[in-house]
Amino acid sequence: MPGDYQLATLANGGKTLFSASYGEKMHPGLGPAAEAELLYVRQLQICERLKNNSGEFVIWDIGLGGAANATAVLRATKEIPGTLRLLSFDNTAEPLAFALKNANALKYLDGYEEQIEKLLRWPCIEFQNGVSSVHWEFYVEDFPAWLSVREQRPKKLEPSPHAIFYDAFSPAKNPAMWTLPVFENLFRALDSARPCALTTYSRSTLLRATLLLAGFFVGAGGATGMKEETTVAANDLGLIAAPLGQRWLERALRSDSAEPLREPVYTRAKLSSATIEKLRQHPQFNSGI
Ligand SMILES: C[S@@+](CC[C@H](N)C(=O)[O-])C[C@H]1O[C@@H](n2cnc3c(N)ncnc32)[C@H](O)[C@@H]1O
Repeated sequence: MPGDYQLATLANGGKTLFSASYGEKMHPGLGPAAEAELLYVRQLQICERLKNNSGEFVIWDIGLGGAANATAVLRATKEIPGTLRLLSFDNTAEPLAFALKNANALKYLDGYEEQIEKLLRWPCIEFQNGVSSVHWEFYVEDFPAWLSVREQRPKKLEPSPHAIFYDAFSPAKNPAMWTLPVFENLFRALDSARPCALTTYSRSTLLRATLLLAGFFVGAGGATGMKEETTVAANDLGLIAAPLGQRWLERALRSDSAEPLREPVYTRAKLSSATIEKLRQHPQFNSGI
């Protein structure tokens, strides 16, 4: 929606993007640069994994927005030789164009303005980022729809990810990005031979139950800004430092908002008996954690 984005000033004086239609700010806690670095880059141990990776390292950056997460990973990996393939998704290029126009106030795009200008014109760009070779694709798509089309194609054109930044607006404001079918498709998009970890800012019981039901292992992530905890999920338990255990499951049983969304409509409900049964059978709760 043209004119949707405005600059907002955070409590720490930094600037971020505010969407009038969603009524939400991007990276509202620590601000774009610090939150992107801590929550997405460090939490997923991107630099360590990139150093130990042979071949290209693939990141799916879901909700490109104003590219704070994308530029944080570029900045952090400049001195690591190798190839980074960044697949960024958003259903609009408007926040990216807005961020570029306001690059001086936002500051976090510093040094990447030229690449972003190109990405706004071409769907795929390649460049040298320090000693790292970068291949950056921008899919201007409705992500849930794109995923289900990809799922049906016999030959997958896009590589499965090693890491996923999941940064959509909240389930209350953007429920279509948080449904169980979306996460089931996302889990099926992973390559079981390629360990992959996802992080997101939410720690809600509803989100964690959704990820578990979709097939992920799920753990508590670190604190950032206003959040005392975030979430990490993976197809390999070894990528999760603090897996949820029986205590989380007991609390989930008592929660008033835990049942996954099946439709893109935000609702709050206790876990159904069918969901409870599936959660109890999840390998995560049957492996002595
Ligand atoms: C919280 S913002 C992302 C902030 C961004 N990661 C950054 O670092 O600046 C959420 C983004 O999700 C995008 N979005 C909303 N619905 C979407 C959909 N159906 N498919 C893809 N992207 C969507 C919004 O346009 C918005 O840019």
